[in-house]
Amino acid sequence: MEEVIRRVETAGAWIILKHAERESAYAAVLEQFREFVHSIAGPEGAKQILNPEMLIIISSPGRLTPFHFDAEINFLVQVRGQKEVWICDPQDRSVVSEIDIESYYARGKASGTYSPEVEHKARRFTLQPGEGVHIPSHAAHWVKNGKDVSVSLSLNFEFPQWKYKDSYKMNYELRKLQRSPNPPGRSELTDRAKSIGFRLLSKSRSILKIPND
Ligand SMILES: [Fe+2]
Repeated sequence: MEEVIRRVETAGAWIILKHAERESAYAAVLEQFREFVHSIAGPEGAKQILNPEMLIIISSPGRLTPFHFDAEINFLVQVRGQKEVWICDPQDRSVVSEIDIESYYARGKASGTYSPEVEHKARRFTLQPGEGVHIPSHAAHWVKNGKDVSVSLSLNFEFPQWKYKDSYKMNYELRKLQRSPNPPGRSELTDRAKSIGFRLLSKSRSILKIPND
C-alpha cells in the first residue's frame, strides 16, 4: 500500500481508504458535515439519512472511473488535483432502469449499462480543491481525473433498508413471477410491507434451503 501511494503519480491506480472517520480528526470533520446535511434535510428527512462514512480516494492522473451508480447518498469533495464528474438525473429511467436497480440490489450486479446517449444527459462538473458535488443515490455517474494526482473525500450516507434495498429486492422477486411492481418511493406503507415480505421470504428460503435464483 505504501509503495502504491508513493508511486500513484505513475501507477495508473486508485486507492480507497474506507472508514477514515476511525481517526478522530476525520471523525470531527464528518460529524460537522453530518450536521450540515441533516440541517438541510430537516428533522423528518434526517431520520432517513443514516450511517455517515468518510472514504479517502487517492488516484493517478487521468484515471477514469467508468459509468455506474451506487446505493449511497454521496458527497464528493475535492482536496487535491482536479476532477471532472458527470452526473445523470437519478429519476431518469432511460439512463438507469428499474430493472437495473433491482438487479443491483438482488444480484449484486454491476450497476447500470452504459450507452453513448447518456453523455448528452449528464451534467458535467469540474471540481477544484475545496469544491464538492452531490451524487444522489441511484444517479449514474462517471469520473475522470485531471493531469495531477487526485485526493478526494467521499462523504457517504445510507437510506434505511426498507426504503430501497429490501423493496427493490422484493420487486425483483415479484418480477420473476411476471408481475410489474410499482417502484419504491410512491407509498411508505407499501415499501415497508415489501421490506417485511422480503425478509420473511429470505427467512423461509434459508429454512427450506431454497437458492435465491
Ligand atoms: Fe460511485
